[in-house]
Parts: sequence; C-alpha cells; structure tokens
Amino acid sequence: MLTAYDYPTAKILDEAGVDCLLVGDSLGMVVLGYENTTRVTVADILHHTKAVTRAAKRAFVVADMPYLSYHVSKEDAVRNAGLLIQEGLADAVKMEGGTAIFSTIQHIINANIPVVGHLGLLPQSVLREGGYFIKGKAEKEIKKMKEEALKLQEMGVIALTLESMIAEVAQEITESLDIPVIGIGAGKHTDGQVLVYHDIIGYYHGYIPQFVKQYANVAEIAEKAAKQYVEDVKNGVFPSEEHIFTNKKK
Ligand code: KIV
Repeated sequence: MLTAYDYPTAKILDEAGVDCLLVGDSLGMVVLGYENTTRVTVADILHHTKAVTRAAKRAFVVADMPYLSYHVSKEDAVRNAGLLIQEGLADAVKMEGGTAIFSTIQHIINANIPVVGHLGLLPQSVLREGGYFIKGKAEKEIKKMKEEALKLQEMGVIALTLESMIAEVAQEITESLDIPVIGIGAGKHTDGQVLVYHDIIGYYHGYIPQFVKQYANVAEIAEKAAKQYVEDVKNGVFPSEEHIFTNKKK
C-alpha cells in the first residue's frame, strides 16, 4: 500500500503493481502544506479520492476519514463515509482510533461501508498528545491496543493499519488477527506495508521519519529541471525551432 492523492500518481502506482492506494489525510502535510493533518476536510479528501479512483484500474482504494468527519455524530460520520464511497468511488474508508470510536465504526459498517481500522500512533490526535510518540512501550498501552485490535476485527473491519509501533507488539497483534494488518513504522512482521508516496520518492521537504526508505530524489530532479528551464528561457535557448508554430516551409 502507498498513499496517492492525484491522477498521474495513482496511474503510475496502479500500473506498478501497488495493491492498495490510500488517499491519506497526510495529503494535508505533503501536498497542501499544513503543519499536521487536523486541517484536512472531507471536501479535500473527496476531491483527491475522485482523482485517484479515476486512475485506479486494479488497486483497492481506501479514503481516509479526516479529523472531525466522524467525531460530531454517528449520522454525520455515515454521511461523510458515504460521500467518499458514493461520490469518491473509494472501496473503503479508514478511521483512526479504538474504544472511543467503536460505536461510530459499527454504525458505518452497519451501513455496509467497508472500514479499515487504524491503531498505534494516531496523527489526528497530535494536538491532544502534544507530539508524535512511538506506541507499544508501556504494558497498559500494549494490552489496550491488543484488545482494541481484536474488537475491531470482531466488529467487521476489513483490515487494520498499525502506525509507529514497537515491532514485537505489531507482530503479536498481527498474529492474533485473521484480517490483513498493514504497518507503517511497525516492523516487518505485519501482513503488508504502507508508506507515504512523497516520502519514498523524496518529494517532501518536511520531517521524514526513521522508518521511511527513500527510493528516489524527485525534488532534486524537479528543481534541476526548473532551473534549466529558467536558464533556457533567459538565454533564448527555449523555445527552439521544434517548439514553434510557423508558416515557413521546412
Ligand atoms: O494519511 C496517511 O498517510 C496515513 C498513513 C500514515 C497510514 O494514514
């Protein structure tokens, strides 16, 4: 699984064999320039989900439910999830959290909307928690996450994301479940992996977590191309004959 937020990227990833595309609310940070994900709206996710689903021919598309889209009321949550499915054409929605949102998740599943759970580090809780902290260090927290994972499976979530978690804890949770578990910074023993696309191609200038492997440096290539373009225009190298419409016979 990789994140995707636009048509060309989704097309490339779909054709490259990525099984699942996540229209994550990381959109807010890597594309929209916000400091964290709490500014992202349903309208933002819907807009980008439409672009991704237009391109995805084989990949399963999951749309993130953004901050406050499932916290105000259950009715509101079903309506927002429904928008991402009905208008965005997503295959499933993802929601961050455990016990506190069980009844809302159940309500959405009861409306026949497939839900992916998300435990461990919950980026939408950054303001309350005061930062991003690795999960699975304290016994009480481990016990709670294990119980929540089992409960989510029992409720009918189709898959579970585990974020920034001690690898052994993620492994134990994975082994205790039948549904697919997809990790991000959760070691190598989850069933699948997810990363933010802009992080792996080197197209984001913000903080890059230790668990990210960078496979390219697209920012460097893009900057080089832009600088060359500026130079070519200033020096009259561009446009050259082949880029010009003319009535002159060749
Ligand atoms: O928004 C996102 O990119 C995510 C991943 C971190 C799993 O939720």
